[in-house]
Amino acid sequence: MAELTASDLRFAFGQRPALFDGLNVTVRTGETVVLWGENASGKTTLLRLLAGMLEPLRGAVRIDGTPIAEQRGRVGILFQNPDHQMIAPTVEEEIALGLELRGTPPEVMQPVVENLLGRFGLEQMRSRSPESLSGGQKQRVALAAIMAFRPLFLLFDEPDSYLDAPSRRDLLAAVEEIRSEVGMLWTTPNPRRRPRADRLLLLERGQIRELSESELTAHAQTGVSA
Ligand SMILES: Nc1ncnc2c1ncn2[C@@H]1O[C@H](COP(=O)(O)OP(=O)(O)O)[C@@H](O)[C@H]1O
Ligand SMILES: [Mg+2]
Repeated sequence: MAELTASDLRFAFGQRPALFDGLNVTVRTGETVVLWGENASGKTTLLRLLAGMLEPLRGAVRIDGTPIAEQRGRVGILFQNPDHQMIAPTVEEEIALGLELRGTPPEVMQPVVENLLGRFGLEQMRSRSPESLSGGQKQRVALAAIMAFRPLFLLFDEPDSYLDAPSRRDLLAAVEEIRSEVGMLWTTPNPRRRPRADRLLLLERGQIRELSESELTAHAQTGVSA
């Protein structure tokens, strides 16, 4: 088991008041954690900090004690808008791209790509342009492309906001398929829209706290701050 840990994070954009000050969170491989927070509560910023894409003003993000800067490839992010993460001309090439850029030899890369096409139900569309796919299919391609790196952790930034109900189910099924292999942190502004979770967290006023299922249900009916 590996642990992704943020400890005592302080972060602010420019001269603005601190968004986080003393924030702590841990995700372990094999668990799915849902992080609920209203719009502008800082979900995207927190994921960027956890992935090492932003530097905290204080505190640190580590995997098993090693700074995230030294192992950024171990954390993958699935963004809100799938259109912002597709660059290759075909589904197959999109999945292969990351490995190719790392100089992986074709005989090593090809079986990995085949395996991912199969696991995420993408064989039929391997030669299609990612642009021609539905939102749910795009997110599955993006997920397969991230899994090609064999990340330990996957961060989901409201990945279903742009999806219709069938596409949402599609994505949740893909998430079920990999949940035991990685540690997942899934952010959502709507706690009713989420995968099956081992832990529920609330991000509110720069702090994270654990919620029980019944607290979440009560909050969900009354609004976060009630
Ligand atoms: N690049 C930025 N520069 C300045 N302020 C930002 C920037 N990105 C986000 N913010 C602000 O930080 C707060 C948290 O944003 P964000 O992390 O995107 O929240 P969420 O993902 O929960 O909606 C918001 O008030 C937002 O306006
Ligand atoms: Mg966001």
